Amino acid sequence: MAFFHCRPSSKLSGFLFIVLLFLSFVSALAELQRFEHSPKVDGSLSFLVVGDWGRRGLYNQSQVAQQMGIVGEELDIDFVISTGDNFYGDGLTGVDDPAFYDSFTNIYTSSSLQKPWYSVLGNHDYRGDAEAQLDPILRQADSRWVCFRSYIIDAEIVEFFFVDTTPFVDKYFTDPGESTYDWRGVLPRQEYLSALLKDLDVALRNSMAKWKIVVGHHTIFSAGHHGNTNELVVELLPVLKDNKVDVYINGHDHCLEHIINSQIQFLTSGGGSKAWRGDIKEWSLEELKFYYDGQGFMSVQVTQAAAHFVFFDVFGSALYEFSLSKETHPSA
Ligand SMILES: *[C@@H]1O[C@H](CO)[C@@H](O)[C@H](O)[C@H]1NC(C)=O
Repeated sequence: MAFFHCRPSSKLSGFLFIVLLFLSFVSALAELQRFEHSPKVDGSLSFLVVGDWGRRGLYNQSQVAQQMGIVGEELDIDFVISTGDNFYGDGLTGVDDPAFYDSFTNIYTSSSLQKPWYSVLGNHDYRGDAEAQLDPILRQADSRWVCFRSYIIDAEIVEFFFVDTTPFVDKYFTDPGESTYDWRGVLPRQEYLSALLKDLDVALRNSMAKWKIVVGHHTIFSAGHHGNTNELVVELLPVLKDNKVDVYINGHDHCLEHIINSQIQFLTSGGGSKAWRGDIKEWSLEELKFYYDGQGFMSVQVTQAAAHFVFFDVFGSALYEFSLSKETHPSA
């Protein structure tokens, strides 16, 4: 057919040029979005981490919020990280859902918490209008709210890689039960997941930051109710290991927890509201450094040389703390 026989012409190369331009545009879009957050003048950084919280103040959410305010003040925090399940039980119904104010804006009212809230989506968020939480309209409503599916916060000494973990979990697709999930923007699933893993791998590989912290909603390892997320053990963990990630922070299990495995620290901060599940799996004590079944949150202070982590309960009491250090001259 004449269509296939046309020889290279200026028209065709013009067409190819546009296709190439389009492809490079698409691949630029596929890269993880990157934002900068300057550290303090001395180069250090401090922040709080809370997860699994949005219950209109109930189940001690307000008490945890109040203690976050006090600790946030003491540490002069730069921002807050939310590990997802931001709004129970089924995310937001839309950008005008009052739950955004009832569970976020009017709960975390302390002055120290008037900082960016870098958030990921949890499985419960996907049960509502997931795109509503990503909508710039919410950022206009409360300028603290920063939520994307997967993205990077570059804070110089630390680079944070936020990963959308819900689409990795098979059962939400194969056995969703009564729940419906908002998979807009996530399908076709395999393409979405492999692009995400590839983009994460590239971004981690290129990172020059002293500390690399990955944040997702789901557990990789956990002794809590949900336990390990096998899909993430198989697909995400190898990327973290290959790139010498220091810390993986998650929610999902409504507890506070520290596990060490593969030279990575696994920290669960999912105690933002409902907790006390009462079921803890057996775990090697060599790996499970700390487990608290109740409500609370975590604080982190980072310098070039060290990172200090503290878990607090609903009364603001420090339950557990530990530090990591970076050798500046490993062979000295
Ligand atoms: C609130 O926190 C207190 C202290 O940990 C606990 O005893 C109580 O059960 C919590 N309430 C709920 C509803 O979880």
